[in-house]
Amino acid sequence: MKTLYILLLVIFVTKGTNGESDEISKIIKPSTDEKTQQQAALNVIRRLIHEKADNVAIKVNFKLPVNYFKIRKTNNSEILRIEASSGVAACKAFHYYLKHYCNAHVSWDGYQLSTLNEFPIVNVEMKASSQIIYYQNVCTHSYSFSFWKWTDWQRHIDWIALSGITLTLAPFQEDVWLDVFKEYGMTNDEIGQHFAGVGFFAWQRMGNIRGWGGPLSENFIKFASDLQTQIIKASNDLGISVALQAFDGHLPVHFRTIFPNASFSITTKWNNFPDQYCCPLFIEPIDPLFKEIGEKFLKTMIKKYGTNHIYFSDPYNEVLPAKANANYIRNVSQSIYSAMSAVDESAIWLLQGWFLVNSGAYWVPSLTKALLTAVPQGKILVLDLQSEQHPQYNRTNFFYGQPFIWCMLHNFGGTSGMHGSIRLMNEEIPQAAKQVNSTMIGVGITPEGINQNYVVYEFTLEKAWEFKEINHKHWIKRYANNRYGFESNNIQHGWLHLLKSVYAFESFENIRGKYVYCRRPSLRLNPWKWYDGKYVRKALKKFLNAATNESNSLNNLFERDLVDLTRQLLQIKAEEIYPSIVKSFKQKNLKQLTTSSNMFLDLLNDLDYLLETHNDFLLGKFLKSAKEMAFDDAERKQFEFNARNQITLWGPNGQIVDYATKQWNGMFKGYFIPRWQLFIEQLKNSLQTNVPFNQSKFQQDVFNQVELPFNEESTEYPTEAKGNPVEKAHELFLKWRNITIN
Ligand SMILES: *[C@@H]1O[C@H](CO)[C@@H](O)[C@H](O)[C@H]1NC(C)=O
Ligand SMILES: *[C@@H]1O[C@H](CO)[C@@H](O)[C@H](O)[C@H]1NC(C)=O
Ligand SMILES: *[C@@H]1O[C@H](CO)[C@@H](O)[C@H](O)[C@H]1NC(C)=O
Ligand SMILES: *[C@@H]1O[C@H](CO)[C@@H](O)[C@H](O)[C@H]1NC(C)=O
Ligand SMILES: *[C@@H]1O[C@H](CO)[C@@H](O)[C@H](O)[C@H]1NC(C)=O
Ligand SMILES: *[C@@H]1O[C@H](CO)[C@@H](O)[C@H](O)[C@H]1NC(C)=O
Ligand SMILES: *[C@@H]1O[C@H](CO)[C@@H](O)[C@H](O)[C@H]1NC(C)=O
Ligand SMILES: *[C@@H]1O[C@H](CO)[C@@H](O)[C@H](O)[C@H]1NC(C)=O
Repeated sequence: MKTLYILLLVIFVTKGTNGESDEISKIIKPSTDEKTQQQAALNVIRRLIHEKADNVAIKVNFKLPVNYFKIRKTNNSEILRIEASSGVAACKAFHYYLKHYCNAHVSWDGYQLSTLNEFPIVNVEMKASSQIIYYQNVCTHSYSFSFWKWTDWQRHIDWIALSGITLTLAPFQEDVWLDVFKEYGMTNDEIGQHFAGVGFFAWQRMGNIRGWGGPLSENFIKFASDLQTQIIKASNDLGISVALQAFDGHLPVHFRTIFPNASFSITTKWNNFPDQYCCPLFIEPIDPLFKEIGEKFLKTMIKKYGTNHIYFSDPYNEVLPAKANANYIRNVSQSIYSAMSAVDESAIWLLQGWFLVNSGAYWVPSLTKALLTAVPQGKILVLDLQSEQHPQYNRTNFFYGQPFIWCMLHNFGGTSGMHGSIRLMNEEIPQAAKQVNSTMIGVGITPEGINQNYVVYEFTLEKAWEFKEINHKHWIKRYANNRYGFESNNIQHGWLHLLKSVYAFESFENIRGKYVYCRRPSLRLNPWKWYDGKYVRKALKKFLNAATNESNSLNNLFERDLVDLTRQLLQIKAEEIYPSIVKSFKQKNLKQLTTSSNMFLDLLNDLDYLLETHNDFLLGKFLKSAKEMAFDDAERKQFEFNARNQITLWGPNGQIVDYATKQWNGMFKGYFIPRWQLFIEQLKNSLQTNVPFNQSKFQQDVFNQVELPFNEESTEYPTEAKGNPVEKAHELFLKWRNITIN
């Protein structure tokens, strides 16, 4: 093993950095000093390995090249010495050492440190290929962090640092808006109608909705503001920069009363949200009021939270400009930028390139070029938000010369289900960086939600530090050894099966996690997968072999992945059974319909018990975290509603129903099974009475009898895992592996 690692460590060739990108990382940075970053990095390591950290020494030296580290230990008695360009680079160094020298593993699913004994001898250095390593999407907060307390954040920031991420987003802004709205004389009621609830901030901020899930209490706003102060301080202490929100034009409808003559437009209806919850105002960026509000907002923001000189503003995320005219767009872009630069002359505008994917037909080259080049060179940083599937750098001549970050989006809505594009990223990241005139200055991850498919995030973050193509099969074997803390041929083969199936997605269908049983039942669902399901079955078999063989050393991460893999097999099986429900109904074969649908429901029931065996798949835990965040009973009810609504109806009437669906224990018994039972009952009824099945009637019924009640009730679900995951997985594998149905 060791020799293999040493071979891998032949010092990496890194891409030379040009003056322009150097400039950017000189501007975007926290103002913390070397000593602070040194101490903060050591604290991260201490939280990870406790007293073993006594044998680690860290020196942060700002004169070193950006994102650089050196690790050295000469003999058994010597201290492990890390010298790094920042606190985050020091943490990355330690993680690198853990991974490559100690066979350990750090992830958001948990740590594997049992292989960490004495520190092995080492002498290695590394300079990251990226100037900036980026993390977060404007939706990540809502889908994954909505109900996090400081302890959750601290652990996550430790992970961010250990992953070598140098730029993230500030999670909150409602406190700043509250000050600004009050300054303009809005009443509490008017403000209450504007802010969305705790589970829906992202879309209210982007101007998609207003008021849904709200109002917000002053208690919560204060809590969020204090939390944000802690988050920014902890990040900055490590040398991690945090981008702040800048104004992007979205305002409460009440502003029309305050400024009757300003040039507002009403944002278009988003996913059929009713008037009460939709269509806030959008102030034309070229109206002088834009600059006034923008400056007021940003000044208040910076006064509260300091600045790392980078600001995100996405006026056209899901909104189109008033005029498709290049001069006009140029003016808009200048107005937005000047509202930032008037407050901070070093300002850099962080722009999500999602509008180019979402409204690609509208954003023809002349308009895109106008938007991007109206701002001085290097003063805008573009996130190419889903480079792994819908890259924009190649249709915009590398964003017309503006720097950009190659980002993997991967997940929408934080849904479950295994998927990813490992081989493709391995190849395309280095290619994008080395093309003539490439302006790529880094790699990032921009998931809408986390806590799934950790493997693809770890892979991408490693590529962020080292673009060059690697042997991804070797990589995944090491990943598995480290994650579970033992070496096993079974496991390695299991992962190779996954690498060529679920993790080999390379086409253009949009994967949205809406697998058949997660969806509102209908006769018209289209099961689809890009891989051969037999590899998932084979992988699971290998995992189970390993479980038998290594029964004494199975850790929480192994159990997690085993449960997830079993879930994946059952997901595939359900999609094989579903067509026979449709077929037997169409053939009016009541007997076969009964057989198929019983099998389908039995499988859903098994899933609930399977997922109950691991803490990472519990609806109960999610609901508990929502309730714990509340300040009183009324708020407890409100927050629980926000949590339940986000993962089911998503809106008052199912506006984007099941968009953020979760395959969790509790979801099956409480939501999916009752839906399918009702559906099957109506299908059978139709065959028995000879009255055609009516999908619209079913939708009304399922909404009133299952979906809405699930949103409003407060049934408790398990908050602690129960049962033996290995036994359960084994049992279900034997039960379902050979089920085929026509
Ligand atoms: C180990 O290395 C340190 C520093 O390089 C040196 O001072 C010490 O004497 C060495 N100890 C042994 C036992 O070689
Ligand atoms: C709006 O414009 C009208 C007509 O030009 C003018 O009479 C009115 O005073 C303006 N209102 C404000 C608040 O500026
Ligand atoms: C853009 O701004 C300039 C200068 O303020 C102005 O003269 C011009 O009319 C504007 N163009 C458009 C299309 O808005
Ligand atoms: C950009 O890359 C995508 C995905 O690789 C490809 O489908 C598309 O044709 C490319 N576009 C251009 C203009 O090269
Ligand atoms: C690279 O940029 C230069 C200067 O803008 C241009 O002349 C050249 O054609 C570009 N090369 C490619 C391959 O796009
Ligand atoms: C169990 O582990 C041993 C020792 O690592 C190995 O030789 C054997 O092939 C494994 N058996 C199975 C069924 O994986
Ligand atoms: C189907 O149900 C809807 C809603 O209940 C109803 O309006 C419609 O008339 C029904 N269609 C038929 C063909 O019965
Ligand atoms: C089930 O499938 C496995 C291969 O996946 C096969 O070895 C086994 O014999 C089958 N069992 C039955 C009962 O068909």
